[in-house]
Amino acid sequence: MNANPIGVFDSGVGGTSIWKEIHALLPHENTIFLADSKNAPYGQKTREEIIALSVKNTELLLARGCKLIVVACNTATTNAISFLREKYEIPFIGIEPAIKPAALNSGTGTVGVLATKGTLSSNLFLKTSKDHAGEITIVEQEGIGLVPLIEAGKINSSETIQLLISYIKPMLEANMDHIVLGCTHYPYLIPVLKDLLPPHVNIIDSGGAVAKQTLAVLNKGNLQNPKKTPGKIQFYTNKDTKILTSFLKDVDESKQIAYLNF
Ligand code: DGL
Repeated sequence: MNANPIGVFDSGVGGTSIWKEIHALLPHENTIFLADSKNAPYGQKTREEIIALSVKNTELLLARGCKLIVVACNTATTNAISFLREKYEIPFIGIEPAIKPAALNSGTGTVGVLATKGTLSSNLFLKTSKDHAGEITIVEQEGIGLVPLIEAGKINSSETIQLLISYIKPMLEANMDHIVLGCTHYPYLIPVLKDLLPPHVNIIDSGGAVAKQTLAVLNKGNLQNPKKTPGKIQFYTNKDTKILTSFLKDVDESKQIAYLNF
């Protein structure tokens, strides 16, 4: 079991930002990444649709022997992870907007959250934001249109920049000093965001925390791969291997990137 892979899935290529954090911390683990780009974006879908897609991705990863699954998608985590944990026996690790560290470190008392509609309307997000409602003001913003642009590789396009300008405007007007990236596609927008945000605004994403949690869960379940050689790395997309490859150009290790109909 310990040599079995860690499965990671997202609605598309964005979850590779999380995979990179996991791989940096756990280079000896075998990993399989699924980019469900054919069905992206998940953010505008109903809870039932998001659960059905998450089950489909999980079944594929289980069929390939995964010992643990990382749901590298805020939208799938906030809508489907409790369902997955009830239905399957292996451990699931999820990602949700990191409101807590932003709230703890905010000096102005205002934090912006950029996420999908599916995440912002989920019960899990409502609970987390309510838990911090006494301490801080949260300015929520749906990132409508951003995931399709990132999926098309248009990170630096004027369309992306214009959308970001309009999305951060109300947050800046409310005097935020932290912006929480509540979607695993958005870390790829950090260079653009840095140009648009004043220097005192901190950008928070949860990739590092997810990797640490993955390590902790492997340790707790005694599931670590004891090998000292680099893990086998497999990436699958059901849409465009060229786009997925472009998001992995900074991954030097030998890796397999392939189309799979799922
Ligand atoms: N990466 C997904 C997330 O973290 C994108 C959601 C979408 O497909 O709309 O929420």
